[in-house]
Amino acid sequence: MVKVAIVGLGFMGKMHLGIYLNKLQDVKVTAICDENINSLNIKNLASKGNIKISEGVVDLSGIEKYKNYELMLKNGGFDFVDICLPTFLHKNAIIKALEANYHVFCEKPLALTLEEGNKIMEKVKETGKLFAVGQCLRYWPAYSAIKKLIDKGKYGKVSYAEFARFSATPEWAWKSWLLDNNKSGNAALDLHIHDVDMVLYLFGRPKSVRSAGVFWQNESIAHITTIYRYNDKLVSSTGGWICTKSYGFNMRAFYILKEATIELDFSKSPIVNIFPNKGKPYALTLAEDDGYYYELKDFVKSIAKGRLSGIVNVETAFESLEVCLSEIDSAKTKKEIFL
Ligand SMILES: NC(=O)c1ccc[n+]([C@@H]2O[C@H](COP(=O)([O-])OP(=O)(O)OC[C@H]3O[C@@H](n4cnc5c(N)ncnc54)[C@H](O)[C@@H]3O)[C@@H](O)[C@H]2O)c1
Repeated sequence: MVKVAIVGLGFMGKMHLGIYLNKLQDVKVTAICDENINSLNIKNLASKGNIKISEGVVDLSGIEKYKNYELMLKNGGFDFVDICLPTFLHKNAIIKALEANYHVFCEKPLALTLEEGNKIMEKVKETGKLFAVGQCLRYWPAYSAIKKLIDKGKYGKVSYAEFARFSATPEWAWKSWLLDNNKSGNAALDLHIHDVDMVLYLFGRPKSVRSAGVFWQNESIAHITTIYRYNDKLVSSTGGWICTKSYGFNMRAFYILKEATIELDFSKSPIVNIFPNKGKPYALTLAEDDGYYYELKDFVKSIAKGRLSGIVNVETAFESLEVCLSEIDSAKTKKEIFL
């Protein structure tokens, strides 16, 4: 049985807690930590956020509860730490857990800057502990099923792909940290990075990025659009959180291959539709759960086996951060950034 401690019981921490307690086998939550542990209503998992999380009541008996992260690491009783803290706290929390000899799963994005990312990467290599970041689209059935189709080459090469992520402004976070560029990197780093990661996972590193943004107070990017330069295809993505509250949230993608056009749209049912050159259009049948479930399942399995599956690692997380920061740079300088 793999044992886990969770730190940060906000939107994502509750999501992970619900998955470990109600859905995954072979894993036991032995400790949870939040600076507001005493006032949190974590028996009821319903929480504010732009995605519906697994709701329901959880039984927290037998789980150690902490306000102090260092004390939790010192007392131990778990194999890995699942870090669901705000992004500006990731680097220190990761390094402390690795130094205390724990494996680590951390929510995306890896960190706020390349300097922080490099320090994390060095520590992962130095300690040899297993480390993964929540690059959840790689595990999301709609996206991973399309990747499988592309990789198999069933419909030939991709000539065009676009990705989109639209959200209302996230006003629900702890102390409004998401709306503070110095703490979250605004929508460019917090939200759009999902699509950056999917572009890299599908097509590898582009030669350059060219971006434009909708700025808040002339300094941070609340919506970003990017063109990724590849020799043989046109790829773009757009995403941000300036939509109206009543719009909520949606994610979309569109792919043109030689022998089929593919549409992914979470506001539609079915979500993924294939329009082939030959034969009738059809919908893909997708695995039932979401990317959060499959990414945690994969990491728990990795711990039991003693090695990562290879879908995500510190390098993949670092590269997503690097490309996303280059996009921010491009939007600010109005220049194409070569990678
Ligand atoms: N993969 C995804 O789709 C996805 C979605 C949302 C958030 N995230 C990521 O998850 C992370 C957390 O975001 P969130 O939306 O859950 O934030 P949140 O504001 O909902 O929750 C943060 C929690 O951390 C706690 N906290 C703050 N400082 C602490 C400390 N020093 N010690 C212990 N607890 C502390 C707060 O009390 C709060 O409960 C971020 O990195 C975010 O980017 C990922």
